[in-house]
Parts: sequence; structure tokens; C-alpha cells
Amino acid sequence: MLILGIESSCDETAAAVVRGGREILSSVISSQIELHKPFGGVVPELAAREHLEKIDPIVDEALARANITLEEIDAVAVTQGPGLVASLLVGVCYAKALAFGLDIPFIGVNHIEGHVFSVAFENPPIQYPAFALIVSGGHTNLFYIPEAGVYKVISRTRDDAAGEAFDKVAKMLGLEYPGGPVIEKLAREGDAKKIKFPVAKISDGRPDFSFSGLKTAVARYLRENEIAPVGKGETPAQEIRDIAASFQATVVRSLVGTTEKLAAEYKPKTLIIAGGVACNDALREAALNVGGKLKLPVYFPSKHLSTDNAAMIAAAGYFHLERGERSNLRMTADVSMRLQNYENEDAELKRKKVRYRL
Ligand code: KG4
Ligand code: ZN
Repeated sequence: MLILGIESSCDETAAAVVRGGREILSSVISSQIELHKPFGGVVPELAAREHLEKIDPIVDEALARANITLEEIDAVAVTQGPGLVASLLVGVCYAKALAFGLDIPFIGVNHIEGHVFSVAFENPPIQYPAFALIVSGGHTNLFYIPEAGVYKVISRTRDDAAGEAFDKVAKMLGLEYPGGPVIEKLAREGDAKKIKFPVAKISDGRPDFSFSGLKTAVARYLRENEIAPVGKGETPAQEIRDIAASFQATVVRSLVGTTEKLAAEYKPKTLIIAGGVACNDALREAALNVGGKLKLPVYFPSKHLSTDNAAMIAAAGYFHLERGERSNLRMTADVSMRLQNYENEDAELKRKKVRYRL
């Protein structure tokens, strides 16, 4: 089955052609980073307008690179949510029109599930139960996946997403957007043990993540030590590199420490690490260490599939289409779409038990 994937949830307009859910024939991504850079973050209105301009040529390019015509596409998969509403609508409306015109099925895909499926291409098939740590600019969730398509959030961020923390700390340090890659580069020449930043503990005892305290700790450190942000065109001083390294190490410790603790408890057979922050080599290395310790295979997408792309959307779409699922033309963008269908089963189970006891 040839699937055209479309992604436009945030600041990348992307289209891809994927065969059989695991073979990428083409994957085209138009990034808006340069457009949003002067603002230090994504401006929703600008993002949506840019998607509108780019979507048609990007789809054409994906078809051309895959060397196929529109008529050869069997189905369309599109990001339905979560994301920016106007951006999502561009992809959703485009996909609907295409599917209607070609009279082929289409399916709305959860963007986060797309990130889970980003490991489908260059790794052996996922063994279940699996763990998926999805770390990006908008999300930080650890999922328990007892079987394909069933998700339970066992840890989530209470405030900022991990990528968001990278972006905000970079901004404080006077560094460019997006912050993740810049901080990682500086951290390579910094001393990660130089500053002890705190890893937040949640007072209600849940194994959740929290990164806003860390962000405040970096701000306080800068203020107390009278460290000025890096000026335009300036080479960052050693103390900035040390802050970058210490901050990154703290984020990695928090992500991997919690994952390790929960993996020891749940005993998954595969650990998936995906989303933009999964580009980070310090995180990859720490995750591989844990995998080695727990004899747990760790799957990463290659770096160009870690950040937003449409191939992962096509792969997730393929999984659902294969199971006979379809969206209809009334489907619309869902800005706060969640990926959690196991807790409901849990609740159902509990209810049944209660009934049984009665
Ligand atoms: O998955 P993604 O492209 O978009 C969202 O769905 O949010 O992730 C983008 C995020 C940004 O916050 C960016 O700073 C972060 O991923 N990121 C990184 C690295 N590369 C991108 N964070 C840490 N280290 C990196 N090398
Ligand atoms: Zn994403």
C-alpha cells in the first residue's frame, strides 16, 4: 500500500510517500526555522500562512522524488493533532480534498503516535510491551505500550516540555532558536559537572517530569553570577559552555533516570526514544547505557526522522488503515488530541471488578 503522509502541525510543512508502512520512497520537509528565528519561537499566524504556500509544492516534490503520480497513491494520512490549530487545518483540509478528489481512504493521525512510529524504518519490528519516550518541543511523555496501538501515559511533564526547556534556556543565554542543537554543540566543550542544577521531584510522588524549576535555576545562576547573555556574533565564553553542559546533563538525567526506574518495574521489551530532543547525542548515549544495563533494546529514529516529518505520519497511518480504520470528511483538526487509550480500559476494568464484587 502506497501512503501519502502529510504533516503541518507546527513549523514544518512535510509530505512523504511510504510503501507498506516501512519503506520511505520520499520524505520532503520544508522547515520554517528561518522565518521564526527573529521572534525566538514559532509565531502561529506566520506558520499557518507559510504552510498554505508550501503544502502544494511540497506534495508535488514528494510525488516526484518517489517517481509516482497522484493516481498511484492508495491512501492519505495526515496529522490531525495536537498542534497549532490554523497550521493543522492546512494539512487536514488539503488531505481531505485530495482523498475526496481521488476517491481513496484517508486517516487522521495523532502526531505523537507518529513520533512513536518514526522508529519503524531503520529498526527491527517493535517488540511488545514497549516503552516510548517522546521528547519534543511540545511534548514529554513516557508511554507504556502493551500492544501495538494501545498507549498508557506513565510519566508526563507537569510544565515545560524537554525541548521547550532547551529553547527557553538557549534564549536566556542569548543563543539562537531552536535551542536544542545550539546547546548540544556548546555542551560538547563544557563541563557538565561544573554546576549542580536540581532535578525536580513531584511532591505527590508521581513519576512525572518537571523542567520549569530547572529553567528558573539557570536564570538564578545567571543573575547571581552576573553572567550576560551571548551577544550577536560573539563567541560564547567558557562559563556559557559549562552552563549548557550542566543544564543538558540535568535534563538527560531526569529523562533517563525516570525511564530506567519505570522500565525496571514494567519490564518492556523495546525502548523507543523519539521526537526532536532524541537528536541529542548525550540523551542517546545515556539511553543506550540504560538499555545495556536492563538488557533492553533501544530504538531511535535517524536524526532526520526525529524532528517533525511526514514519513512517520504515513507509517502510523498505515498501521491504522491496515486495521480497517478510516476518517470521514467530518474529521477536523484536534489541537489538544491525546494519546491515551489504555487508562480507559483500566477504568473499565476497575468498574467491572467493582461490579463483580457487588
Ligand atoms: O519533534 P520536534 O521537531 O517538534 C515538536 O513536535 O515539538 O522537536 C523540536 C524540539 C525543539 O524544542 C528543539 O530545540 C529540540 O526538539 N531539539 C533538540 C535537539 N534538536 C532538536 N533538543 C536537544 N538536543 C538536540 N540536538
Ligand atoms: Zn513533533
